[in-house]
Amino acid sequence: TTRIGVLTSGGDAQGMNAAVRAVVRTGIHLGAEVYAIREGWQGAVDGGDGISRLDWDDVGSVLHRGGTVIGTARCREFRERAGQLAAARHLLEHGIDRLIVIGGDGSLTGTDEFRRNWPDLVAELAREGQITQEVADAHTSLMIAGLVGSIDNDLVGTDMTIGADSALHRIVDAIDTIASTAASHQRSFVVEVMGRHCGYLPLMAAIAGGCDYVFVPEDPPADGWEDDMCELLRSGRAAGRRDSIVLVAEGAHDRHGTPITATQVKDLLAERLGEDTRVTILGHVQRGGSPSAYDRWMSTLLGYAAVQEVLEATPDSVPHILGVRHNRIAQIPLVEAVQQTREVARHVERQDYEAAVTARGASFGE
Ligand code: F6P
Repeated sequence: TTRIGVLTSGGDAQGMNAAVRAVVRTGIHLGAEVYAIREGWQGAVDGGDGISRLDWDDVGSVLHRGGTVIGTARCREFRERAGQLAAARHLLEHGIDRLIVIGGDGSLTGTDEFRRNWPDLVAELAREGQITQEVADAHTSLMIAGLVGSIDNDLVGTDMTIGADSALHRIVDAIDTIASTAASHQRSFVVEVMGRHCGYLPLMAAIAGGCDYVFVPEDPPADGWEDDMCELLRSGRAAGRRDSIVLVAEGAHDRHGTPITATQVKDLLAERLGEDTRVTILGHVQRGGSPSAYDRWMSTLLGYAAVQEVLEATPDSVPHILGVRHNRIAQIPLVEAVQQTREVARHVERQDYEAAVTARGASFGE
């Protein structure tokens, strides 16, 4: 029987459970066995209870649950050769040489590195007598598929990542909630939004939440932004607006790379406009809770596609991420997607924002 391992790695995201469920049930439907690797790569490194078979019913009642029921972690040991040797040995104990990894770009890069090292790791394990030559010969390559699990929506090549839509819903709900208390008191609120180096969540939330001002990493404000922002908010008040809401991405900064923080914006509004201002840091509320309908169906379709991908893969296959392009499930070359994502980050670091936006919008073969 073909055996598939599934793991979630890096920060959790709503919809990961839907993907795991789809992987398990599609795998069983197509005649394979599916194994959970628990707590991210840690389960593979540790072996024992870290790897266990999942049956159809084991993934019942998880579709609507946030987080990941098989656990996640950022595993340091897996970055070292000793950790990778242990992981390969434990996977082979279960006859697993096909893997579906649900995680961010770091997890996906780590997985591809492991895939490239695999023949070497297997040869070393056989040489040292930790596995038989027969096992080594039967599993000469590792076949992988990646799903992007991250609320940040920061991977080039896919329109959406698992969890981004749910996080956006959570943020917009919070903005609506804040707006009512803000309006009652005629207060201003500065809301810090997650997304690491990516402005997707704050930008979309600002539009959907009808906010007054937003700071995102990819489009830092020009010098003198303090005056512009205050003027805009002042005129909003003058026009009768009862609430003012400013969103600040956690990765926001000015044109010189100096961070723009929620507290700094709050102080500005208080000092220059005399506004009664509060800061709300949404934090991990954004990453928790039930996945949206979109995240549930997208993750289900992606999980299904990922199983097909690993079952059809051959040792020579190019590893893919399964993502969404133009509202269709698409195969995206993993290495290029990660490289281009890093390219975007480099442009942002060098403050070449036009190049960053172009690189983010770059498509594969279109
Ligand atoms: O990548 C997801 C994310 O929630 C980011 O938006 C945020 O910067 C980071 O993870 C927070 O990480 P942690 O959960 O380790 O505090």
